[in-house]
Amino acid sequence: MDTGCCGRKGAHEEMWQTKHWNVQDTVDGSIRKNAMEAAAVWIKKGEVIAFPTETVYGLGANALSDMAVGKVFAAKGRPSDNPLIVHIASQEQLQDVAKTIPSLAQKIIDAFWPGPITIIVPAAPQLATKVTAGLDTVGVRMPAHSIALEFIRLAEVPIAAPSANSSGKPSPTRADHVAHDLDGKITGILDGGVTGVGIESTVVDTTGERAVLLRPGGISKEQLVELLGVIDEDPALTNMNETPKSPGMKYRHYAPSVPVYLVEGGKERLVSKIKTTQADGKRVGVIATEECAAFYRGADALEVIGSRQCLSTIAQGLYSTLRILDEKNIDVIYCETFTQEGIGQAIMNRLKKAANGQII
Ligand code: TXA
Ligand code: MG
Repeated sequence: MDTGCCGRKGAHEEMWQTKHWNVQDTVDGSIRKNAMEAAAVWIKKGEVIAFPTETVYGLGANALSDMAVGKVFAAKGRPSDNPLIVHIASQEQLQDVAKTIPSLAQKIIDAFWPGPITIIVPAAPQLATKVTAGLDTVGVRMPAHSIALEFIRLAEVPIAAPSANSSGKPSPTRADHVAHDLDGKITGILDGGVTGVGIESTVVDTTGERAVLLRPGGISKEQLVELLGVIDEDPALTNMNETPKSPGMKYRHYAPSVPVYLVEGGKERLVSKIKTTQADGKRVGVIATEECAAFYRGADALEVIGSRQCLSTIAQGLYSTLRILDEKNIDVIYCETFTQEGIGQAIMNRLKKAANGQII
């Protein structure tokens, strides 16, 4: 729904009345169409709009305009050395973004696009410098989400978009997460409901002889190995002391304001951590699987994230669980650990970032 005019509230205030458009399936077709068109016009005017993708919500701007992309960095409080992913709606649009398309990239495109995988390719010269943070490569993906694809088509430009959260906070999987972080700082939000995957895209560098996994995500390492035979992994994914090849991976991330700890050693260990921490006068929040939740009844806040039998549900609910616990009156969050297989690698990668590497 359009909530009124978008403009500066006062001459000296850098606050905006953020527009909210409901474009979910339940809304009448012509209302949705009008909202999508209105949002796309703002992109053409160089403004910033949040939109849903199949992974998380993105904060979009015209990828060919430094002025527009600068507003994305400002709204998020994002470090300027962290490049953005460019979103496209067709393979033809790749010509506007990539200087060349390495054969590894083409294989990934053919197998997984549209979908939750970003390829790093040589950057086209017309891209805004701020998008690539001055690198000669760019991350690009075609999202598997009808609203995202329609929005990019209507905007008629490739759309640069990081996740639509304040820098360092968990990525948004619902429009109200975006509003919580960015209301008053951006022009509008397209509300497409809850995102499906829940964790960001996989990022793969395709510029070398072998594909290099820089960030695990919606497409698993096993799927990539099946397609390409062999891939390398950024050593920083397994060794916290290495500098990540993907600039964004070096920051603490996905994190609530209270400390998060990953607790190894099974449920008995976690139960004893709850008791000893409470004995120190601290209030404990726990992220639990269905299988173990009953054991943690003594916690001050308990969030059940799903069954170990269904890791995709755990991925889908992860960020919203971190946000829920962030609103509770607790001093520390303990979380179970997960397998590194399939989407489990991405879940553990994000949890380790949220925990700043604190595994106990
Ligand atoms: O699923 C996603 O990927 C979401 C949705 C909105 O598409 N976007 C997202 O963007 O997660 P962001 O900005 O939160 O993460 C982009 C990651 C960062 O770690 C960044 O450093 C990396 O991609 N990246 C972007 N361009 C790169 C490049 N040229 N070389 C290496 N890493 C790059
Ligand atoms: Mg992000």
